[in-house]
Amino acid sequence: MTVNATGAVTGARSISLDQPLLRSADFGDLRLPNRVVMAPATRARAADPGLVPTELHVAYYAQRAAAGLIVTEGTWVSEQAIGFVHVPGIYSEEQAVGWRRVTDVVHALGGRIVLQLWHTGAASHPDHHGGRPPAGPSAVDPREKSFTARGFQDTVTPREMTAADIGATVAEYAAAAENARRAGFDGVEIHAVGPFLLPQFLNRRLNRRTDAYGGDRARRRRLLLEVLDAVCAPWQGRRAGVRLSPYWTSGLFTPDEETLADYDELVAELDERPVAYLHLRGRDLVEPGATPDLDAFARYRRLFHGPLIANNGFDRESGNAAVEAGVADAVGFATHFIANPDLVARFALGHGLAQGDRATFYSGGAEGYVDYPAMEWRG
Ligand SMILES: Cc1cc2nc3c(=O)[nH]c(=O)nc-3n(C[C@H](O)[C@H](O)[C@H](O)COP(=O)(O)O)c2cc1C
Repeated sequence: MTVNATGAVTGARSISLDQPLLRSADFGDLRLPNRVVMAPATRARAADPGLVPTELHVAYYAQRAAAGLIVTEGTWVSEQAIGFVHVPGIYSEEQAVGWRRVTDVVHALGGRIVLQLWHTGAASHPDHHGGRPPAGPSAVDPREKSFTARGFQDTVTPREMTAADIGATVAEYAAAAENARRAGFDGVEIHAVGPFLLPQFLNRRLNRRTDAYGGDRARRRRLLLEVLDAVCAPWQGRRAGVRLSPYWTSGLFTPDEETLADYDELVAELDERPVAYLHLRGRDLVEPGATPDLDAFARYRRLFHGPLIANNGFDRESGNAAVEAGVADAVGFATHFIANPDLVARFALGHGLAQGDRATFYSGGAEGYVDYPAMEWRG
């Protein structure tokens, strides 16, 4: 078999509908026709000052509607949440109207779509906040980068959130979830991966608080659990997923034994709550082309009994293996969905995959966004 630059395959293919990834699944109150989940990917295409999704967003998600479930790009719950340029929000009426166009088209095409709720906390930059430092759990610089109009810039020492700030933040998540419901989404996903607000509160190096939101593990996870309760409220049934990255490594984030114990307890608590699914970003691959470490997911499979999505470095073969082994119910694909809008059909037909162009991941405009072609089939 040979694969050309756009992923067209000539020679032997392996057409099969009998793949674990192509089986249907029940996720909370959603029925997924397949287990190929489009993982969240920031694409920085909301260029207008109101950060409203446009027709480009409608086309992008419509092209990918065959996914078992679409998780949108991270989307701001409020202006305070902002930490990256040209990312859409869900805190204004105009934004909700823009998203309604996206959900209407995805649903008309038979798809399911949840909105990822994002807040960067201290992993932002004064450029996003009128020159004032962003707020975080404590006055500790997370030593990350924030993408601003002047390019990637180093984070600064944030302002410590007051009790009133924390209460306002939970209320902003609640309002964002209500807007998402009105905009026609099938649910929401709490973005608690990477170096952003909710993982900052979980992190004992960044969260030095001595109030009800810092100190021991139970206090450090309190904000996340309050946010979960808040975003569940607008929905009937199980419509809120949680995305975690216990193994995240950057700045002051290290997956040591203490961190993993934090996450063990957190996941056990999530198991007690009406969570639609748990979306886990696993360990980074040791080298390109390596296979994801399934034990990294099995650890949480033992603690969480609802639907589990595994993500990070999967392809058709390793994704099928994860579902077959029972460590995950579905698999999230981010980079493959960027470059292969028809990823589910490519998996079904055993077709090769196109490679995405990293230079256009966040570049704005249609190029590298809505112009990846469907597969070319050559007999
Ligand atoms: C361009 C790009 C943007 C991303 N944006 C987000 C995001 O908004 N929210 C999130 O939780 N993860 C985000 N991720 C992480 C992906 O969801 C995923 O965890 C990562 O790419 C590994 O999965 P993959 O090997 O299937 O690409 C992003 C990744 C990429 C490449």
